[in-house]
Amino acid sequence: MSNPGKREQFGSRIGFILASAGAAVGLGNIWRFPFVAGENGGAAFVFIYLILVFAIGMPLILAEFVIGRRGQGDPVGSVKRVCGKAFAPLGGMGILAALVILSFYAVVGGWTIKYALDAIMGALGTDVASAGGAFEAFIASPFPVIGYQALFMLGTYLIVAKGVGGGIERFCTIFMPLFFILLIVLAIRSMTLPGAAEGLAFYLKPDFSKVNSSTILAALGQTFFSLSLGIGGMLTYGSYLDRKEPLVGPAFQICFLDSLVAFISGLVIFPAVFAFGFEPSAGAGLTFVTLPVVFGKMPGGAIFAILFFVLLLIAALTSSVSLLEVGNAYLVDERKWSRGKASAVLSGATFLAGVPSAISLGGGLNIAGKSFLDTMDFLASKVMMPLGGMGFALVGGFLVYKVAKEELPASVYPVWRFLCCFVAPVAIAWIFFSGLKW
Ligand code: PFF
Repeated sequence: MSNPGKREQFGSRIGFILASAGAAVGLGNIWRFPFVAGENGGAAFVFIYLILVFAIGMPLILAEFVIGRRGQGDPVGSVKRVCGKAFAPLGGMGILAALVILSFYAVVGGWTIKYALDAIMGALGTDVASAGGAFEAFIASPFPVIGYQALFMLGTYLIVAKGVGGGIERFCTIFMPLFFILLIVLAIRSMTLPGAAEGLAFYLKPDFSKVNSSTILAALGQTFFSLSLGIGGMLTYGSYLDRKEPLVGPAFQICFLDSLVAFISGLVIFPAVFAFGFEPSAGAGLTFVTLPVVFGKMPGGAIFAILFFVLLLIAALTSSVSLLEVGNAYLVDERKWSRGKASAVLSGATFLAGVPSAISLGGGLNIAGKSFLDTMDFLASKVMMPLGGMGFALVGGFLVYKVAKEELPASVYPVWRFLCCFVAPVAIAWIFFSGLKW
């Protein structure tokens, strides 16, 4: 940053991989994946999921990396330079989607701060009824929720303002390894509880009779969400990668790490939930209501509750910095703002844009029966992400394939192009039209 005129870069390959894996690994891995897997045939689902991650997710990550690295800029600037001016709106939609996601992601990120603090103070609920009541009351109370949301945005801002190498890379290089260690400690604790086997059986027993088109659709939606595809996040990180670095290895490692975290999260959640005879129910209720009660019942639970919420907070922050960086890169690269000003203005604006989401869970702010937060989530995950993913797949496969041919190894290129031109667009069109129910 001290060298004006020279674009920032990641300092090391491992820093780049950990930052990109951090962008992908988030709340979706920890609570969403295990349940979707448990309900859709366990190991059979995991198997299908892995195929989709590598057949569709990885080619899309590569398409974004190729455009970002060659374009050396934010999504708008890179797409303009590499694909042509007419395609700039594809990058613009990515930036908008990233900010929309960040506006409500910070609200949930704020909840994790509150729960991490409660865990440290030993103030988590001890039975599902009271913990559930406390959670409902908390998310419906505007001022504390907005306060924690502001704190989460402040953390995101502080990391992004410090730059790509000194902020994002450094944070992810320290905290992603810590994240893995915490996750493994939690998995060991959970799997060694008496009665853990029943949970493992629920999660992993392959049940191919449950595999049908809706299973594949669920796996596809999860792939998209989990790898943060279609919003230009991977494009932006790819633009900070040195020209000499390979792309295929890191894309593979990001997919591998993201899937591994998702898989191990199931080994944390199901054995513990079953060991204490709880119902596995999906969603925020499980994370913020059932799990704290489960921790309260296990030996050493107070410590494990702290570890779990710190883990969630790290996962949320490494994703939120990538979301802020997409728009930040635009202001720095295209509008020539300083990084400090860009990240401050953008964090402030995103915070304000998130306030309607923050206050919507009290029941006030609904749009056609959905809370404002759920409406933003729907818009981003069901509309903007698939459209963006479709755009990057088509542009990659049909327009910038010559650039990709230079950037990718000869053995990978034809397979990548086939997947981008035909397989990914069909799959994405399917998610889009089936997901579009309100
Ligand atoms: N990939 C994140 C997760 O699995 O939780 C969620 C996410 C982050 C989606 C960033 C989209 C995004 F742009």
